[in-house]
Amino acid sequence: MSFSIYEIISKKRDGKEISKAEIEFIINGYVRDEIPDYQMSAILMAIYIQGLNERESSDLTEIMMDSGDYISFNEIKGKKIDKHSTGGVGDKISFIVCPLVASCGVKVPMLSGRALGHTGGTLDKLESIPGMNVFLSINRFKQVLGDVGMVVSGQTENIVPADRKLYALRDSTATVGCIPLITSSIMSKKLALGTDGIVLDVKTGKGAFIQNKKDSILLCETMVSIGEKANRKTIGVITNMNQPLGKSVGNALEIIESIESLKGNGPDDVMDVTYALGASMMIAAGIENDYSKAIKRLKQRLNSGEALEIFRNFIKAQGGNDKICDNYDLLPKSKYKVELRSGKDGYVSEIDAFKIGMAAVYVGAGRIKKEDSIEHGTGFVFNKKEGDNVRKDEILVYIHTNNKQNIEEIKKRLESAIKISSNKILSPQTILYVIDKKGVYSWDQIKAGF
Ligand code: URA
Repeated sequence: MSFSIYEIISKKRDGKEISKAEIEFIINGYVRDEIPDYQMSAILMAIYIQGLNERESSDLTEIMMDSGDYISFNEIKGKKIDKHSTGGVGDKISFIVCPLVASCGVKVPMLSGRALGHTGGTLDKLESIPGMNVFLSINRFKQVLGDVGMVVSGQTENIVPADRKLYALRDSTATVGCIPLITSSIMSKKLALGTDGIVLDVKTGKGAFIQNKKDSILLCETMVSIGEKANRKTIGVITNMNQPLGKSVGNALEIIESIESLKGNGPDDVMDVTYALGASMMIAAGIENDYSKAIKRLKQRLNSGEALEIFRNFIKAQGGNDKICDNYDLLPKSKYKVELRSGKDGYVSEIDAFKIGMAAVYVGAGRIKKEDSIEHGTGFVFNKKEGDNVRKDEILVYIHTNNKQNIEEIKKRLESAIKISSNKILSPQTILYVIDKKGVYSWDQIKAGF
């Protein structure tokens, strides 16, 4: 059926509902280059301002998913569960939780992305491991999944091509932070993989795409509802992204922190997110039905060293040097390591994740444009986190940089991100809510059942 693009733009601009056929016309027309960027930008802005209802969001997701290939895992035994994070700073949880749940028999296929803006990227972090191949053919992807229990690869050209085109346009038209557009972008890619379930880590706070809790809950509820409608067991966990997750920010530095976590030395916030997401993955797979038992099992697996063994196997299967697990000197390193010290006594009241993410880009650990290169050994290691007591001259952060000239500017950026208060501050809660098809539960409510 043919429509007038002008009329569809006007309809959405005026807050009217658009039909499935109209959405199909816009998306397929844009993918085939029949609709120009300027008209698609107008539609995106109209959606950004007027929103989409549940039916429109669900139709948009399905049509985007159908723009490319579908990967079936029918030939691979076991429950396949996808884990997705909406993106943050210092988020290395995939490297810990995926081998951990794989050690319990869950199969974890992940298609991941690169760092962009203030957020880090799973593929860049993995590429700091010498030899690691993060672009696998579909056949090799399935083979590694079956043999190892987990696999991570970059998105292929043929999976949801509509999202690749649309995301680039959203990025340049200030239309990324929009709940229905984020939902359709993420869920179309999740549904293009033939998994049994999806666990979503929806970040909220200063370093997240969506900063306030109310909108983060709405985003999560919308994604859970779309996943369930597509017959995937879908669970969302809302986690705090006000401060960076863990102590390390930067590619090789985060790989080291992940391996240390698999050896039982993970920071509290990293392990809290690992166990909340891991337990949700076990529940989505139907292996456990309550958080307390699932977390107990995961802790046993971590302590037995089986999860670390799977991480080694995963590195080897994707061509990487697994000796990095025993010798961190085999990973890229920065030329200089410089300390930033506290100017006063007090408590750390804020470490702004967005500002830290942008400082990480400046130090070479991230990128602003897709084409920018990354310096894998650079980044920050925090000696203090929100809520910690600090004395004057105590080290706040270790700066890992290759460029002596930028040290003063980095220090300035870090100083503007870190606040020290004379009042005692409590450590912030890391896990906030769990959302499934039945409703929204606070983490305190769930923990009360432990
Ligand atoms: N991640 C995605 O894949 N898409 C969005 O729109 C936002 C985060």
